[in-house]
Amino acid sequence: MNTASASLPVITIDGPSASGKGTVAERVATALGFHFLDSGALYRLTALSAMKQGVALDDEAAVAQLAAALPATFRDGAVWLAEENVTDTIRAEAVGEGASKVAALPAVRAALLDRQRAYRQAPGLVADGRDMGTVVFADALAKVFLTASAEARAERRYKQLIEKGNSANLPALVADMQARDARDTARAVAPLKPAADALLLDTTQMDIESAVRAVLSHYQRKQGN
Ligand code: DC
Repeated sequence: MNTASASLPVITIDGPSASGKGTVAERVATALGFHFLDSGALYRLTALSAMKQGVALDDEAAVAQLAAALPATFRDGAVWLAEENVTDTIRAEAVGEGASKVAALPAVRAALLDRQRAYRQAPGLVADGRDMGTVVFADALAKVFLTASAEARAERRYKQLIEKGNSANLPALVADMQARDARDTARAVAPLKPAADALLLDTTQMDIESAVRAVLSHYQRKQGN
């Protein structure tokens, strides 16, 4: 990171899967005209890349090499792995599972660090993930930790799957959600936890619009300090 980009405002939105952080982060970025980083997509792309190339998800050195050279681009509202549009593919449950596994490998996290920091560009950045406020952008101006109960998050995922014409099983989704939370929270490197200076936002009973407003007013308060 150079000195010019170090002064650019960053808003970090961390939290467990299906907490709504992606949607909230994207809307906050649009409202402010900021860039947007979906860091989870980079872990998903790394897992997908390994799965496609037959690399074992626990082969740390090989997966880190894939992560470092990931031919990933975000353009036209889509996610690309080389010339393949993988926007929907990376959202599959199996790829999410894989992402959670490769994300526990320290060399993989290190390989993705500079790529994530490169998104800090004028006029500012909204970054969503698990360790945006604690590790990647520890100096961010405004940090938010978005949560919701595992049941509420499983229900949201259930609705999304059904809307897309997929079959889904609610108790299985709750169990998956709890297993993934446990893995993301327990890992040694960059575990899922709120930064000490993060605003905690529980969205179990909150709609997206209210969450977006809460993040924007947190940012405005921080700007005023
Ligand atoms: O946010 P998501 O569900 O797309 O993230 C997929 C996986 O990647 C998730 O299991 C945790 C991991 N992840 C991470 O470890 N650190 C991040 N900054 C973002 C995601």
